[in-house]
Amino acid sequence: MCGIVGYIARKQNPNSLKLGIEALKRLEYRGYDSAGFAFWDESKKDIFCQKAVGRIAALEEKANGAVNAAALAANPLILHTRWATHGGVTESNAHPHFDCQNNIYLVHNGIVENYKELKEMLQKEGHQLHSETDTEVIAHLVEKFFQGNLEEAVRKALPLVKGSYGIAVIAKKDPNKLVAARLSSPLLLGLGENEYFIASDPSAIIAHTNKVIYLDDGEIVTITPDNFSILKEKKPEEIEWKLEDAQKGGYPHFMLKEIMEEPEAIENSIKGRLLVEEGMAKLGGLQEVMTRLRNTKRMLFTACGTAFYASLVGRYMLEEYAGIPVEADIASEFRYRKPIIDENTVLLCVSQSGETADTLAALKEMKMKGVLTMSVVNVVGSTIARETDAGVYNHIGPEIGVASTKAFISQLTIMALLTLLLGRQRNLSLIKGQRIAQDIMALPEKARIILAQEAPKIKAIAEKYYKHNNFIFLGRKYNYPIALEGALKLKEIAYIHAEGYASGEMKHGPIALADENLPFVFIVPQDSVYEKVISNLQEVKARKAPVIAIATEGDEKIKELVDDVIYIPKTSEMLTPILAAIPLHLFAYHMGVLRGCDVDKPRNLAKSVTVE
Ligand code: G6P
Repeated sequence: MCGIVGYIARKQNPNSLKLGIEALKRLEYRGYDSAGFAFWDESKKDIFCQKAVGRIAALEEKANGAVNAAALAANPLILHTRWATHGGVTESNAHPHFDCQNNIYLVHNGIVENYKELKEMLQKEGHQLHSETDTEVIAHLVEKFFQGNLEEAVRKALPLVKGSYGIAVIAKKDPNKLVAARLSSPLLLGLGENEYFIASDPSAIIAHTNKVIYLDDGEIVTITPDNFSILKEKKPEEIEWKLEDAQKGGYPHFMLKEIMEEPEAIENSIKGRLLVEEGMAKLGGLQEVMTRLRNTKRMLFTACGTAFYASLVGRYMLEEYAGIPVEADIASEFRYRKPIIDENTVLLCVSQSGETADTLAALKEMKMKGVLTMSVVNVVGSTIARETDAGVYNHIGPEIGVASTKAFISQLTIMALLTLLLGRQRNLSLIKGQRIAQDIMALPEKARIILAQEAPKIKAIAEKYYKHNNFIFLGRKYNYPIALEGALKLKEIAYIHAEGYASGEMKHGPIALADENLPFVFIVPQDSVYEKVISNLQEVKARKAPVIAIATEGDEKIKELVDDVIYIPKTSEMLTPILAAIPLHLFAYHMGVLRGCDVDKPRNLAKSVTVE
């Protein structure tokens, strides 16, 4: 949601505007509805600002007509993609926002919670505000304190702002400076060769540098062409992603590329962590809290969206094999409950981006209460990763498709590793641990088999069903969350109304809907609840509903019961969700493509949801 890029070069770079726009495009996946930029034009000794509603391409087109060649060396430059929260999707609400004197230009991610009070105060002081946004008040606050030094003005303005922000600011009357700051909204400083960047995530700048400094809450960085200064001295870190990771690599969509990377996502999640002989997992990021983990009596999982479904699967795994009571809650609800906690309770936050506002809010609530906090996060250096006491990184490279796919598979894999680790600390025997570890080890190959053998079949099934506007997904025990995930993906990607249900619960409601027009997807591997799910399936079939089954390879009986079958290789019961989710991701992808949807950037959705 919302993206910020900032750029300042040591020497005039004639391509800086182009470079900035390319960097901004790499943030498109976060979701946005309008875009804009502002830069110091040395040739005119003025700031040039341009905004457009819609795609960055529209902004680019406008800029091509308006910017003369001399101005292409925009320096410094700030750019922004906006996701409307306060005020409609209009050009005047798009960023950058500016003050009364067209001196201060500012881009902002986050929310100014007290913007109404600030607006009133500023208006009383004579400021003219022209947008409906919360952001604009910050530009006017900086104006209020501006006396020739931008950094000083920002420093004085920010304490008045309540809420969250990542900002980048430039000023006409202090032109060779870019000032940026953050509070509960991600922002990093990229250190290139003779150039500096500001970005809300590494994908924007990875083409130019892998040396970054992640800003901490409350920090303000001032960058000039020659140097930068942060309130606190910090050492640069290296981004481990490669540029290719953030490109489509020959695939028509990021979503397809990322689904095809699911086997590799499992491999990367277990690399160096799975000890098959010992039937154990070693998770470096948890080493420091191992003693506290051994004493854990209860775990609370919290997450949003797909990551929440990974948490639900984790609950089944940990309760069955580690004997630890687990509660899994949607983060936006969790913080309003009063969960019973004691010194042996552990909170686990699951988040691909590590920036989801609801998850972060739940985390902060629990931190305040003194609970040991852990995370499973993909984006290194993200806020949740840094705010938790300990954690496990997914290590799967950037996920660009807005709807999470390979990160989900990785989250499930890490849940399995965590189960081994905590299980073996408790009652899980060596033999059982070894068997699970061997089965985890075999997962990447099995995932590859699904993608190679079943992919054409999945596409054909999508072609058969893509005109249906309603679907029901059913699964039981470990695969109940996978039914939820299958339905969520179809909603997000193909804009089809789909419901996920616990298959045993079907008879208490959804069965009333069953007829020849409503397709059902059953996740029915041969596991401990197989027979029960089969009887649910037969009830649906008796009412003439079309049924697609995700079943275990070799299950011939199922062919006679259903209309279409997608097979997954056999594995231990607790790992079936990892394999069952793969065909459902691919199914949603094909359904979305067939219905002409923007599968990488579905309407109204954002990759990283930084508002509550
Ligand atoms: C958004 C994305 C989902 C994701 C959810 C949680 O809604 O579109 O794909 O599952 O946020 O994101 P997180 O980064 O916390 O995993």
